This record gives sequence, structure tokens and C-alpha cells, in this order.
Amino acid sequence: ATERTLSIIKPDATSRNLTGKINAKFEEAGLRIIAQKRIKLTKAQAGTFYEVHKERPFYDELCDFMASGPVVVQVLEGEGAIAKNREVMGATNPAEAAPGTIRAEFAESVGENSVHGSDAPETAAVEISYFFAGIELVG
Ligand code: CMP
Repeated sequence: ATERTLSIIKPDATSRNLTGKINAKFEEAGLRIIAQKRIKLTKAQAGTFYEVHKERPFYDELCDFMASGPVVVQVLEGEGAIAKNREVMGATNPAEAAPGTIRAEFAESVGENSVHGSDAPETAAVEISYFFAGIELVG
């Protein structure tokens, strides 16, 4: 089925001018970028977005990092977009990411891992609505 997923190009990637290279990976995989904006999150906004991780030991560090510079938030659409995006991103830890994936090529560490992608249809819906109004999604 056609799905939509929320993607974030993280501060480690925007700071190294990798937005275009990362978007090319998505488009080459058949994902369409149907909404996109560059924003700077506050730590509180990052904290709300990553609320499910708030008991994790890395939560504070994660929120500081996500607020440390610009991010590009985007909605990707395509057949099986959630799984496809996760495939293109590669494993969370770049040391374990398959060759050719975004994290294998660009990520610096498990924390500064260049991209985020929703992990399921329910979280995708919540995450998309955190950043975008329906009128901004142009499929
Ligand atoms: P992401 O897909 O954005 O979802 C949660 C993020 O937490 C994850 O990618 C990683 O960047 C980050 N994360 C996961 N494990 C660790 C860790 N051990 N140390 C720091 N950050 C982590």
C-alpha cells in the first residue's frame, strides 16, 4: 500500500551540507518527498518529539543534539514507504549499517546518525502531524 513516513535529516548532516545527497538516496529508492522544511528545534520541542525515549539514558543527549542545529523535516510517500525508508537509512548504529545505506555512508555515531525515520504506521501519523498540517502534504 502507499504509505507516508516522517523523515528528519539531523544536525550532523545539515551541518555537513548532506541534505541533497540524502534526498537523492530517498528519490533513487522510489520515495517521493511530498513535504519538506528546514527548521531549528528547541530542546523542549525535541523532547516532545522523542517522548517515547524519555526513560532512556541517552534521552538528554539526544534532545541536546537535535536542538544543536538546523534539521530538515520531511514527509516521504511511496509503496511501503515506512519499511523502504528504514532500509535506505540502514541500522541505527552506523557500524552495523549495510553498505550503501545513508547511515553507513554519512553517520558519525549511534547518536549523530544523520537521519530519523518513523518505525510504524501509527508513529508515522503522529510524527507527521507534529510537524505538518494536512494542507502542506502535496502528494
Ligand atoms: P532515531 O531513529 O532518531 O530514534 C532515536 C534516536 O536515539 C536514534 O535514532 C539514535 O540517534 C539515538 N540513540 C539510540 N541509541 C543511542 C545511544 N546508545 N546513544 C545515543 N543516542 C542513541
